Amino acid sequence: MKRAELDRAASEAADFVKGQFSATPRFALILGTGSNQLADAVSSETVIDYGEIPHFPRSTALGHRGRLVCGQLANQPIVVMQGRFHLYEGYPRERVTLPIDMLAQMGTEFLFVGNAAGGLNPAMATGDVMLIESHIDLMFRPPWAGDPGQAVPTSRRTDPYDPHLLASGLACGRHHDFPVHQGVYAAMLGPTYETRAEYRMLRRIGADVAGMSTVPEVNAATRHGMRVLGLSLITNVASPDAPQATSGEEVIEAARAGAPKLEAIVLDAIHRNS
Ligand code: HPA
Repeated sequence: MKRAELDRAASEAADFVKGQFSATPRFALILGTGSNQLADAVSSETVIDYGEIPHFPRSTALGHRGRLVCGQLANQPIVVMQGRFHLYEGYPRERVTLPIDMLAQMGTEFLFVGNAAGGLNPAMATGDVMLIESHIDLMFRPPWAGDPGQAVPTSRRTDPYDPHLLASGLACGRHHDFPVHQGVYAAMLGPTYETRAEYRMLRRIGADVAGMSTVPEVNAATRHGMRVLGLSLITNVASPDAPQATSGEEVIEAARAGAPKLEAIVLDAIHRNS
């Protein structure tokens, strides 16, 4: 799709949602695998299935509901994506990030990007939260869609994660007395979890967690000038030297247990920026 077509698709999607939810959502939240219940904290005004929104892909991944919950959280209008799209579902990057383009058109300034991730740092335990300070993009896709034959600018980038949101998220964990790590997210294409050799490699190259999402959305959000907080819920801890497989069900169960921590951090960030 050409850039102009993508922008038109995003604006038609935004118009559709605005037709049912007229408030300007300065805040938006993407829920990763197993974090569905976080949407229950929203006093929802409208719930829209992705299938109803023009140009939206379908959500096929395990533990992803596939609907937009629009309402109020901490007395602020918010749009919550209950389920996201992944490159491993076969969608091209510009379709994975269409919701971000739509949110930008709706006026979103703050994007909370949640995900389930495998912990690589031995200091981490299942159920912990890590706030993303930087990422290693191993998905090997250009950061956003330009038109064929038109180069995407190759400017040097700084890390897209907002340092103020990161610092207050860490403080929130201290305040509520639960561990919050800060670290590096390695984005893998998936959909398989990593081999032991891959976990070992990722740790060596400086990653603290591994996941299969987030980076395309964060790149798109940065392009729109949004302030981004990346939140990884550690759903399994990779132990490269102990033969132990990771299962999707285990990941969902751990995400469910850790969701209240994500909620505390997101609520705190909304309060501080309202
Ligand atoms: N690797 C990649 N993605 C994940 C993992 C993992 O170990 N756990 C949850 N999402």
